[in-house]
Amino acid sequence: MVRCRRRQGAMVMADYVLVHGGQRDGSPWGKVGSPAPRTRSQCLCALLVQAREMESAQYGVCEEALIGNTENEQKLYGEAWNKAFNGYFSDPRIAAPLVRAVVDVVEASSPMVITDLGGGTGFLLSEIAGSMNPGNAARLVCVDEAAVQLDDCPDGIDTLDCTVENIERSQLTRDGERLLLCMRSVLHYFGESGLRPLLAHLRSLLEHGECFIHQTICIEDERDRETANLLYLRMDTGKWYPSVVGLTEALEQEGFRVVSTVPAMPLVLTQAELEERYGVGHDRMKEIRRELQGLPRSSALVEQEDGFSIRLDYTVMSCTATASLP
Ligand SMILES: C[S@@+](CC[C@H](N)C(=O)[O-])C[C@H]1O[C@@H](n2cnc3c(N)ncnc32)[C@H](O)[C@@H]1O
Repeated sequence: MVRCRRRQGAMVMADYVLVHGGQRDGSPWGKVGSPAPRTRSQCLCALLVQAREMESAQYGVCEEALIGNTENEQKLYGEAWNKAFNGYFSDPRIAAPLVRAVVDVVEASSPMVITDLGGGTGFLLSEIAGSMNPGNAARLVCVDEAAVQLDDCPDGIDTLDCTVENIERSQLTRDGERLLLCMRSVLHYFGESGLRPLLAHLRSLLEHGECFIHQTICIEDERDRETANLLYLRMDTGKWYPSVVGLTEALEQEGFRVVSTVPAMPLVLTQAELEERYGVGHDRMKEIRRELQGLPRSSALVEQEDGFSIRLDYTVMSCTATASLP
């Protein structure tokens, strides 16, 4: 609802800066220049949308949550995970923009607990720990529903075998402890209809001013997005990819302020990798490929001799929990 962003090429930036010691509202970010353009009617409108979404969150929360994490794709979890997809999920250079965004907030606001939601093998938390000041005593908690992923977490990281949609603050923090949530490559598991209820749930975990920093597949080019979403629909994955603007609006409507967005390294997946991960037969994939070829040409879909590849673009978004609206 509330827009205060300037487009700069591939990067969308908000006019906020990190302020050490934090703001009056507890957020580590302060706004540069004039206050956010939030009128009373915008606030009321946001409140109504939020109320509707919270209602649907109560009754229909994330019924699709597990569809995105199919049994077949879990074959790759555990030890094999860090080597999958050319090591994308265990490459420190690829993780750097997200790690930097988290560490900047840790240095500015000193959370006592840093939780990675859908944190898998704990790689991201290890990178964060390695980039923080040595004296930092924040507890690191990796939450995942796949026990085989958590089994691979290194010492020094607490693990919680739980779904993201069911996690409660009391499982993460004790009274008065400040919490920071991070997440990489998990929001798309909830599908289009599950996204906003999940965001509402994540917002409910946070106190006003606490932060949620995530790296999510967001596809800005409409043709690329249409192609990727049709492919993932036809593979019966339950996954769905928003645009940067669409995800930003969803976050803002669910009680977050998006203070910065930064592009991260895209993930390129081959046809063979997709067939293996989602258990799609080769002949079925040929049919899907023909259907994709009928769409307006997308630069994300690259045709090769032995099959196609698809590029999925990632964005890191730093968000702060806004005050409840009156
Ligand atoms: C693509 S992997 C990313 C792992 C890790 N975040 C990283 O970037 O290396 C997605 C992870 O989310 C977990 N996951 C998917 N849906 C989940 C849910 N509803 N609750 C908890 N974990 C979930 C999976 O088990 C998996 O470990």
